[in-house]
Amino acid sequence: MPKSRIKYICSNCGYESLRWIGKCPECESWNAFVEELVETGKKKQTAGKNIVPLSRINEIFAAEEERIQTQIEEFDRVLGGGLMPGSVILLGGDPGIGKSTLAMQACANLKTPVLYVSGEESAKQIKLRAERLRITSDEFFVLPETDLTAILDSINKISPSLVVIDSIQTIAMSELDNSPGTMTQIRECTVTLMEEAKKKHFCVIVIGHVTKEGFIAGPKILEHIVDTVIQFEGEHHHSFRILRAQKNRFGSTNEIGVFEMHENGLQEVRNPSKLFLSERERKTSGSIVTSSMEGTRPILLEVQALVTPSNFGNPQRVATGFDYRRLAILLAVIEKRAGLRLSANNVFLNMAGGIKITEPAIDLAVCCSIASSLLDKEIDGDTIVVGEVGLGGEVRSVSQIEKRIQEAEKLGFSTILIPSYNNASLKDSAIKIIPIDNLNSAISYLMS
Ligand code: TYD
Ligand code: MG
Repeated sequence: MPKSRIKYICSNCGYESLRWIGKCPECESWNAFVEELVETGKKKQTAGKNIVPLSRINEIFAAEEERIQTQIEEFDRVLGGGLMPGSVILLGGDPGIGKSTLAMQACANLKTPVLYVSGEESAKQIKLRAERLRITSDEFFVLPETDLTAILDSINKISPSLVVIDSIQTIAMSELDNSPGTMTQIRECTVTLMEEAKKKHFCVIVIGHVTKEGFIAGPKILEHIVDTVIQFEGEHHHSFRILRAQKNRFGSTNEIGVFEMHENGLQEVRNPSKLFLSERERKTSGSIVTSSMEGTRPILLEVQALVTPSNFGNPQRVATGFDYRRLAILLAVIEKRAGLRLSANNVFLNMAGGIKITEPAIDLAVCCSIASSLLDKEIDGDTIVVGEVGLGGEVRSVSQIEKRIQEAEKLGFSTILIPSYNNASLKDSAIKIIPIDNLNSAISYLMS
């Protein structure tokens, strides 16, 4: 009989310890250790098994495999051009964001058998959802099951090209004593599925919930194992959702997919800029349009700033959808280089629509929107501003300027402010291009 004992594992990085520790010595996260039952009596019989022959790289034959298209363009693009047979994809996100919906819609479009395993919903509940999504596919198999052995049996029976596990936290291997959702179960189930997927050449989408701390439970360990990690994000009070690849062995991680949640499922948003600009109030100070590259696509969005006098000693700085530390730096640059006093003001910054932007190309727009609100001067609503701002107040070049200009033209903007360095490489275009050297000249152009 195998003996079992208790071990503590860091749920963030997988560091193991024999006693509980408050702070992980490896990744330094607090309160991350969880208790796990480990069987010690069992010896792994792996030695000598599965010896893979040594080979020269030139002797290996590897043709680019045909990917499976889900016909959901936004999803396929994030995956790097469709599902890769034999790969495992981890789809993470907050509960209720639409992971199950997306996975079901992807399954519905395939012409080959697909297996949708749900440990969370009954077959009836799945059917009701399928009706809402108008799924009629005859190759769509449903299995409300939590035991991995039964799942593998079903896989053998129907030889699917895609298996969805909804969610990995509910699935368990009966040989292990740990309850579903523990690190050991999550890891072992994923590894077993992965081996099976590689052997039989089907693709697996593993759905994982995100814990309060923002991690997929049992997170980093899974991220190392699987081929692709995609995150489904969005605000619950907004209907749009963004799909982002965090890791992808078969494609770039820059692409994003944009969706909107409707009463009958997720709809692709082919032109995200239009969506993000749709509710714009044109005649207010502090509002400005900028362009951020998300993968290969430029997205136009509105930056809003509100600067108000602070009656208390400590003025507030709040940023939504933008890095707080970056805001602090830009505020210091505005004070020092543009001579605008902000130390006695509250500054609130918002990326309209609830999108998160990390690209420094929107710096100039952030600075100008703050200046516009402080000076209470409106900025022309048909103007777009792009550029990174350096500590000296200089405006630095941005990548892929042509694409940003094209998108601005397409959406009917009349003027674009761009870094001077980018200007040299440009051809003529219908939109008026204003090259900008530094923050001061942008502010005086926009607000004089
Ligand atoms: P779901 O896919 O169940 O989320 P997850 O699997 O990530 O927990 O989606 C849940 C939300 O989506 C739920 O609040 C209802 C909403 N929804 C719609 O608005 N329209 C639809 O057609 C469906 C299926 C769900
Ligand atoms: Mg779900």
